[in-house]
Amino acid sequence: MKKILVIHGPNLDLLGKREPKIYGRVTLKEINDKLKKIASKHKASLTIKQSSHEGKIVDLITKAPGKFKGLLINPAAYTHTSVAIRDAISAAGILTIEVHLSNIYAREEFRHKSLITPVANGTILGFGAKSYYLGLEAILELI
Ligand code: DQA
Repeated sequence: MKKILVIHGPNLDLLGKREPKIYGRVTLKEINDKLKKIASKHKASLTIKQSSHEGKIVDLITKAPGKFKGLLINPAAYTHTSVAIRDAISAAGILTIEVHLSNIYAREEFRHKSLITPVANGTILGFGAKSYYLGLEAILELI
């Protein structure tokens, strides 16, 4: 059984209501339901977590090796600020795909830098909720 950890960062619990012009109308529950469907087609199991707390996200990543073969993460605003999450991913050494709903490079300049991209195996962004689905398909193919 392929076990994958999915982490949604801060404010992603607000999807559906949050800036729909940027993030669309899809809710986090809808995204999670679709991810579970994709996983079950591939006989994989998902553990899905959302947290707006940097340390909590670090702890989840730190405990992932040995339990999970892959990590699908949207670090949200921490993408641009968190050395701690970057270092946790680097230390964990499991296959990691970074995803973003929006194209961060087409937005404000402060979003143009991702601290996570250099330590991820790959990054998928700009496809709305589909970024997650493509990211999960990539992990399932690669592990
Ligand atoms: C985001 C992009 C980030 O810049 C932003 O802070 C988010 C969501 C995205 O999925 O497009 O919260 O990660």
